[in-house]
Amino acid sequence: MSHDLYELARQVGLEASAFVRTNRPSGRVDVAATKSSATDVVTELDRACERLIRERIFAARPDDGFIGEEGDDIVGTTGVDWVVDPIDGTVNFVHGIPSYAVSIAARRDGAVVAGHVVNIATGLEWGAVLGAGSWRHEGDQKVPLTAPQPPPLAQAIIATGFNYVPEIRARQSAAVAKLLPHIADIRRIGSAALELCALAEGQYDAYVEQGLHVWDRAAAGLVATEAGFVVTGLDGEPDERMVMAAHPDAAAEYFDLVRACGF
Ligand code: IPD
Ligand code: CA
Ligand code: CA
Repeated sequence: MSHDLYELARQVGLEASAFVRTNRPSGRVDVAATKSSATDVVTELDRACERLIRERIFAARPDDGFIGEEGDDIVGTTGVDWVVDPIDGTVNFVHGIPSYAVSIAARRDGAVVAGHVVNIATGLEWGAVLGAGSWRHEGDQKVPLTAPQPPPLAQAIIATGFNYVPEIRARQSAAVAKLLPHIADIRRIGSAALELCALAEGQYDAYVEQGLHVWDRAAAGLVATEAGFVVTGLDGEPDERMVMAAHPDAAAEYFDLVRACGF
């Protein structure tokens, strides 16, 4: 059944991605409103994309639940709910930086069982099914993803992100300043979903971010976990306070450093 949920996530994710790509005007995209701060923006296409995803999911599975960034939560009766970010990386989308994604996850009884992420600008897609691994799609092929052996911390590239609220951002940048002397470098692409997929690809060695919502990480978190990374939070599960990810062999050392830096 999780594979069926995955196929639906992928089908809807690809349609939503094509919809956004086709309808994106050239140049900068107009901002429709701001949310948690002046830099937390939403466009009409974020909203229209989520409407399309809701319509397609409920046409196929009318009794499921739904949590989407741009609409009201719907409580279902089947035990399955959908966790959706219609555009993750909206600031990139607005500016035309080609790193923004549709992220669709299916949960059963609260546990993510399938996840699909597609980079709208490039068409690259990643997927995962709980217990069945994670992959990047290449045409008809699924290229399996496996966490590579981690380098020593001093050579690690660590992906991160910053909250939209200035006070939180100030704390995060202070923690990053403490982290930097201990590692090779940081990266900040501007889409948590794409960053976690890039981690699963082995492009980064670890990831840390505070203030993520469940729709930012549900699908890509499974992609990283199924590739073999530990994805965790302060008390064992990732949550809004903390998402940390690393190879199991490096996780203890890396997570200790993250805490010591004051994240
Ligand atoms: C944001 C991106 C960003 C992360 C923010 C998220 P949005 O999602 O994932 O990388 O740092 O915390 O809110 O607003 O573009 O959907
Ligand atoms: Ca997001
Ligand atoms: Ca979003």
